[in-house]
Amino acid sequence: MIYQKDLFSMFKILSFLQPNHNKTKRNYLERMQNKKIHCMKVAKYYEKDYWDGDRKYGYGGYKYIPGRLTSVAKKIIKKFKINNNSKILDVGCGKGYLLYEIKKILPKCEIHGLDISNHALKNSHKEVSKYLFLHDAKKKLPFKKNYFDLALSFGVYHNFTLNELESSIKEFNRVAKKKYLMVESYKNDTELFNLQCWALTCESFLKPEEWIWLLKKLNYNGYYEFIYFK
Ligand SMILES: C[S@@+](CC[C@H](N)C(=O)[O-])C[C@H]1O[C@@H](n2cnc3c(N)ncnc32)[C@H](O)[C@@H]1O
Repeated sequence: MIYQKDLFSMFKILSFLQPNHNKTKRNYLERMQNKKIHCMKVAKYYEKDYWDGDRKYGYGGYKYIPGRLTSVAKKIIKKFKINNNSKILDVGCGKGYLLYEIKKILPKCEIHGLDISNHALKNSHKEVSKYLFLHDAKKKLPFKKNYFDLALSFGVYHNFTLNELESSIKEFNRVAKKKYLMVESYKNDTELFNLQCWALTCESFLKPEEWIWLLKKLNYNGYYEFIYFK
């Protein structure tokens, strides 16, 4: 058994997002018992219900909260030595809030965000919406090899099946020199139970060591973050 603190020292594991994740209270059993199969089907469209509908379909109202992502943006900029000349991609950018924060700090950096959700893109800040586009991350990414200094993807790839991961991670790898992805995961039976109760869109329920094993097989050489449901 490999423990989290060993993983942190052995692999490129970051923990910039878990503090925000921990701020949300989740009633796991209520979600499991509230027409969950129907809710999963609705959530998987990633449209209005998922973002701004009832909580049982997803976020239950995904609003911009000033300051919430500022420290995440600052940590990313510092860790990956991002500056005004850098090019950054966010795969599954949602409403583009993270790119918005990065752009506020580094107004001249080049940002691109892609997502499968019309609703999310339409509800992005006007300052970044022109840099966001509708695209399925399971398909080829429309950029040259190593075009980006940094590619980010938070909360997206656990929603893909293993065969979908094979091609999409290769694309994520291809387009950027540095990479940082976050996926939902679990370290023990409690966290697996909580994740299975909570997840509406997850397809790949894997432990950190399984993610690392898989992604290394796919030649992923970037950073990881694993989010847990405690
Ligand atoms: C949990 S949300 C995370 C959003 C954003 N990255 C964040 O951290 O706030 C998952 C995101 O993945 C997007 N997504 C799911 N499947 C996708 C696909 N095949 N291609 C592109 N985006 C996808 C969803 O629309 C949604 O924006």
